[in-house]
Parts: sequence; C-alpha cells; structure tokens
Amino acid sequence: MCGIVGYIGNKDAYPILINGLKRLEYRGYDSAGIALINGETRTYKCKGKVSDLENFVANQDKSGNIGMGHTRWATHGEPNDVNAHPHISLHGHFTVIHNGIIENYDVLKRDLIKNGYSFKSETDTEVLANLIEYIYLKDEKIGVETAVRLALGKVIGAYGILVAAKQENNFLIAARKGSPLVIGVGEGEYYFASDATPIVEHTKSVIYLDDDHMAIVEKNNLMLKTIHNDLLEPEVKQIDINIEAIEKGGYDHFMLKEIFEQPSAIRDTFRGRVSERHNRIYLGGLHTALPKINVAKRIIIIGCGTSWHAGLVGEYLLEEYARIPVEVEYASEFRYRNPIINEDDVVIAISQSGETADTLAAIKLAKEKGATVVGVCNVVGSSIPRETHAGVYTHAGPEIGVASTKAFTAQVTVLTMMALMLGRERGNIKADLYLQMIKALSAVPEKIEVILKQADLIKELSAQFTNAHNFIYLGRGVLFPVALEGALKLKEISYIHAEGYPAAEMKHGPIALIDEKMPVVVIATKDKSYEKVVSNIQEVKARKGIVIAIVTQGDHVIRNLADYVIEVPDSHEAVAPLLTVIPLQLLSYYIAVARGCNVDQPRNLAKSVTVE
Ligand code: G6P
Repeated sequence: MCGIVGYIGNKDAYPILINGLKRLEYRGYDSAGIALINGETRTYKCKGKVSDLENFVANQDKSGNIGMGHTRWATHGEPNDVNAHPHISLHGHFTVIHNGIIENYDVLKRDLIKNGYSFKSETDTEVLANLIEYIYLKDEKIGVETAVRLALGKVIGAYGILVAAKQENNFLIAARKGSPLVIGVGEGEYYFASDATPIVEHTKSVIYLDDDHMAIVEKNNLMLKTIHNDLLEPEVKQIDINIEAIEKGGYDHFMLKEIFEQPSAIRDTFRGRVSERHNRIYLGGLHTALPKINVAKRIIIIGCGTSWHAGLVGEYLLEEYARIPVEVEYASEFRYRNPIINEDDVVIAISQSGETADTLAAIKLAKEKGATVVGVCNVVGSSIPRETHAGVYTHAGPEIGVASTKAFTAQVTVLTMMALMLGRERGNIKADLYLQMIKALSAVPEKIEVILKQADLIKELSAQFTNAHNFIYLGRGVLFPVALEGALKLKEISYIHAEGYPAAEMKHGPIALIDEKMPVVVIATKDKSYEKVVSNIQEVKARKGIVIAIVTQGDHVIRNLADYVIEVPDSHEAVAPLLTVIPLQLLSYYIAVARGCNVDQPRNLAKSVTVE
C-alpha cells in the first residue's frame, strides 16, 4: 500500500525522502510526491514511479530540513498528478500525506462543501487536510495540534498520517489508526516511515506508533500523546535489520534474491528452536499460550494471499501430527461473516507484513469473542505481533519483492515446527518418528540448495511458456496448497491466468480446458498419493496437455510420461511443500522476466495491504 516517509532535523530532507521513497516503492507505486519545508512549503508530485518524481524535481528548489514524501497505491481516485500526495488544504495552511482509507470521507466532504470548501482531487486525504484547516480556522486559538486531534476524532476508518502546518512550520505531526507508522530517533533529528526499511540506514532506534496515538515532533523533541490528549512516555526500541538485507546484493530482482535466500532464511527460522542434538523443537513465543493450545477444541487459521496458502499447508500438518481439528479461512471472509468462535478456540493469524488490514480486523474479532490468538509474522514489531496473545516470528528477513517467496517457506517452516512440537506434547508422535521428522526438517535448507542449482534448467524450460495464456497447477494432499501457491505466483508476476486444483478434482471441471496448448504443472513427488497423481498425469497426456512435473529425484516413471520434469531431492512427505514450491517460484520468475514484466513491482499489487 502507500508508503510514507518524513524527516525533521538539520540535514537536507530531499535526499533522505527520495531514497526513503525508493525503499518503500515496493509497498505501492502508482504516483509519488514530496513536500519540502524551508520557510515556505514546496510540493512536487506526479503520476508514475519515484524515478519519475526524481526527474520531475531535478531542476527545482529542493532545499529544506523538514519534509515528507509519499508513494501512492490508489484507493480513492485514479492514479494521476492531482490525486498524488501530499495534499494541501484549500487555504494552504496544512500539508498532509496519508496511508489508509477514510471511510466517512463523503459525509465529511459534503459538510466541508457546505462550508465553502472546494476540492481539487478525488482523494479522501484532501478531505482530511481541509477538515483540519476548517477546524483550525474556525478558532485559531486552538492551535495546530488541537485542530489535528479534533479532525481525527471525526474520522472513521484507517490512517497513518504526517501533517505539516504553514503557520507553525518547525514541527510535524504523525498519527496512526490502523495504518503503520514508525519514527526513527536520531541525534537532533527524527525520521518517519510506514515501515523501518527507509530508516535503518540512518538509525536503529525507533518508536512504533500505536493506534490512536499521535506524535508532535520538533527536531530536538518528540511529544507522544493519545488522540484524546493524554501524554505518553515514548518507548524507544532497537531494530535488528541491516542495510544489505534490504538491497539487491547483485541479483537482478529482489524476488530472485529472496528465492535464493530461502536456505538461509529457513536456517534463521530454525535458529534456537530446532535441535537435532537434543531431539527437540521448541517455539518459545508460544510458551504462554501452550496451556490453551494443548486443550484447544479447534484451531482456526486466518490469513490472506500467500499467507493463506501457508495456512492450508498448516491445516494438513497440524491435523496429521497434533491431531487438533483445523479450519483455514481468508481473514477478509472470517471478519464479516459472524463466525462461531469459542473461548477454547485458538486462532493462528499468519502474515508476512504483520499489517494486513483484514487479518488485523479478524484478530480483533477473535479476541473479542475470547479466543486465544497466536501470530505467525515476519516483520518484527509490526501491528499483528502486538495484537496477538502469543506468537512466532518467522525471521525470514525483509521481503521486498511483492510476490512472497521466502516468507512463505518460513511460514510453512514455523507451522511444521508447530505441528511437530504440539504432536509431541500431546503424545501423538512417538520418539523415533519425532527424531526422524526433526532430521527431515533440518535437512530442508541443504535440499533447497540442490534445487536452486537447477535454476538455469528451469530458466531454459520457462522459455517454452513465454506466450502461454493459461496454466493449470495440480497437487494432492499437503501439496495441493503448493499448487495454489504456484498458480498465484505465476498470476501475480507474469499476468498469465493460472488455476491451482487438487489433482483428483481435475476431472470435475478443469479437464475440459486441456488441449495441446495447455501447460499443466503437476506436483508429483513420491508420497502416499503418488500412484494416483501418475494416473492424473496420464489423463492430461491423453488429452494432449503439456505436463511439467515436479518429481522426486530419479523418478523414471514420470520422466517417461511428462514433457518436462524438474527433480527435487527425496524427503519426508511432511516437508515436501518446502521443496516443491521452489521450482514453481523459479518457473514463474523466469516466465515473467522473459515476458518483460516488472517482477518486483507487478501491476496493481501491493506488498502490504493496509486497507480492506
Ligand atoms: C498482498 C501481498 C501478498 C501477501 C498478502 C498477505 O496481497 O502481495 O504477497 O501474501 O498481501 O500479506 P501478509 O503480509 O499478511 O502476509
């Protein structure tokens, strides 16, 4: 979604803002803009990427030690120069950037129009800028801070905002409800951003704004309050992200880098949690919730997109090993359908960003109904880990490519660990199987390294499919969610239509689509469904479909049947999702690159969906 950056201090704000915007571009990117404050406020904004903005301001006055910048992912109003942020209030008193959605913007706008206001853009943000100004001008004695606070009191919806005032231009106001904001603390300076990525190169000390909090920030002073005007003590935390982790490090795209990082990301997910030597898996973050989880009648897993797919893998594994009934649901559906939630339910919320609006709302609902909520998140300090009763960080490191790769395998790793740990605690897994599973899991990073060595082969193979219009992905059991994830990856970055299906369901519909032009990716590693999947491959071949099979190393049966095979090392069935998804990620990556698509920033998508 939209990205916010801001700076107040003694340095030139422009380079800090523009670099910050580049780091945030992965969140959303149809237009960008900045405001620089140097006695007066200068605003530059345009449709397109941050590089377009850079060209646009190349010959302009870029001075100023205070400023704010924004990359936009359109919600209200099409992407164009006028709708880009910052927005300035009608009489020029306030400059605002905003992430989120103001749901009652229409009512507020109509009231403002009645009071003489007119609007240049179609955005909800301009409504907020004008509302602040209207309140301020009605009684200038109340001052800027109170005007912002009163305006926010009238807003329904979500926001992360930065506000600058013309008349008191030595401070910025930051406020948050539902949309993340982080403040970096430097020496006589402060940085603002929607996530920590633009801040880490300047300072590791940060303050995470909570919902309904606002910060009034001068270069040497930060005052934290609730929007009800209660003073708070800011809590400064140290973040543990290094700059290399958020740069491409020689790869053509972040996505490729992140695919190749998976062995080390999974090792980081294991660290301190899986011990072959002690024959033990322990997730410390679950400690406080374990008594509840162990007696849970049901686990409900919620998430969106790729995280939902990880949840589906979790369902198979938790039911198999922990023997607790599991339901998996899209957070966006769950939150709106009055679900039956009991106090002895455990809800597991999965999210890479920890900021997905639907997942956050679903968590709040589950908590209200008395369930125990556990988070599985990647971004440390994000909103979801702060909302949940207990949780496990995936520790995959920053994921910048919009299409999720290493975050998915790290999520699946955590869910696998969870299933095994609970299975053992509940007496469902015998000691020898437990050890065997720990060994299988520990061997995954090395096996992924073997698969990654086939990248060139997969690249060559993908060249055959550059012009495909459709793809089908088939898998069974715990590999069915992997088929869904493979199809999603292809759609997201290559814009080729793809469907994931349980292999056995193919005959109930998708089989009608198969002809000599239809590529069918079949995940067909050796497990209990193997023979049946071989029959499915035969069914596809009988209709002249093109079969790309993901097989266990040395499988000659399928090699003779399929058009193309990609081998993965032999492994225990439970860890097969972690291996088989890798070739699917590479396949979609290389197809998208060959089609000339913008892999890291696919059209219309955003990395962090902070609006519903
Ligand atoms: C967006 C991203 C997906 C991600 C989904 C859920 O759609 O593009 O890659 O899977 O949001 O995000 P989360 O951060 O909650 O995992």
